[in-house]
Amino acid sequence: MIIGGIEIKGATLAPLAGYTDAGFRAVCSLCGAGAVYTEMISAKGLIYESEKTKDLLYSTPYERVSCAQIFGSDPYFIREACEHKIMDKFALIDINMGCPVPKIVKNGEGSALLNNPSLAQEVVRAAVKSGRRITVKCRTGFSSSKNCAEFVKMMEDAGALAVTVHGRTREQYYSGKADLDPIKEAVQAVKIPVIANGDVKDRKSAEYALEYTGAAGVAVGRGALGNPFVFARIAGNEPPMSVQQAIEIHIDILLEIYPEHKVVNDMKKHFAFYTKGMRGGKELKMKAFKAKSVKELKEIANYL
Ligand SMILES: Cc1cc2nc3c(=O)[nH]c(=O)nc-3n(C[C@H](O)[C@H](O)[C@H](O)COP(=O)(O)O)c2cc1C
Repeated sequence: MIIGGIEIKGATLAPLAGYTDAGFRAVCSLCGAGAVYTEMISAKGLIYESEKTKDLLYSTPYERVSCAQIFGSDPYFIREACEHKIMDKFALIDINMGCPVPKIVKNGEGSALLNNPSLAQEVVRAAVKSGRRITVKCRTGFSSSKNCAEFVKMMEDAGALAVTVHGRTREQYYSGKADLDPIKEAVQAVKIPVIANGDVKDRKSAEYALEYTGAAGVAVGRGALGNPFVFARIAGNEPPMSVQQAIEIHIDILLEIYPEHKVVNDMKKHFAFYTKGMRGGKELKMKAFKAKSVKELKEIANYL
């Protein structure tokens, strides 16, 4: 798939708040993710130079196609955020129009923009004026009345170069099966690449989503947690590294950004996924949760 002249080979890593840090994005890229996204970053937060926001935008050369995701509904702040120098290193800037969280929706941001397509268009037009490559990620609709195809077409008209569609409505949050029909309709309504998202967790589900919807690509979210190797498997390859190596790389990159105590803390949630379903996994997870140093975590990783 080509987005604004950028070639994306392989499934993409969907943005996951709290998880798609620079370490995880590097590991997923090394395993074959065609593009990787930061978690959603507040456009306003970026303008006001919040340190935390900048840390979330840390990236390494391992990322094959590095993408930042921002959220906001004020065209002025969106354009300012896109124009920010820190965005120079990102190939694409994605605008979040899918976040279902009440705090975000109340501000008219995230999935609330599905209910206000003309403002969503203004947001995209403002972003495009920055001269960056702009994409959108949305859901199939806000409530049960799905306006997906129409919405995606409006994003294309406003200048978005691609749209990732999560096959659930805002009302559904993350429950139920992802609905591929609205994604298929969106694919047929536009010329730009549409990326199908929702419940892709292996080669079979990736192939099914691609075939059913006719989408240009698939995005993997939760299926990559504790399993960055999914990107290799979707491509029909053997994973290029072990779990221990993945964790080692992940930790070492986080240490470039954060003090050790924060790295240990941040890694615990990843250990919860790496140990899920494995024999003796519960004990290893508990050990990881009690760890106080990265040395201890790396030792636990030897048993994964
Ligand atoms: C913990 C968590 C955090 C997420 N954070 C974001 C985010 O920051 N931006 C975004 O566009 N979507 C976010 N999503 C949605 C995912 O990108 C994806 O659309 C959704 O999980 C469906 O894909 P999946 O079934 O492959 O997980 C998040 C989902 C989860 C579970």
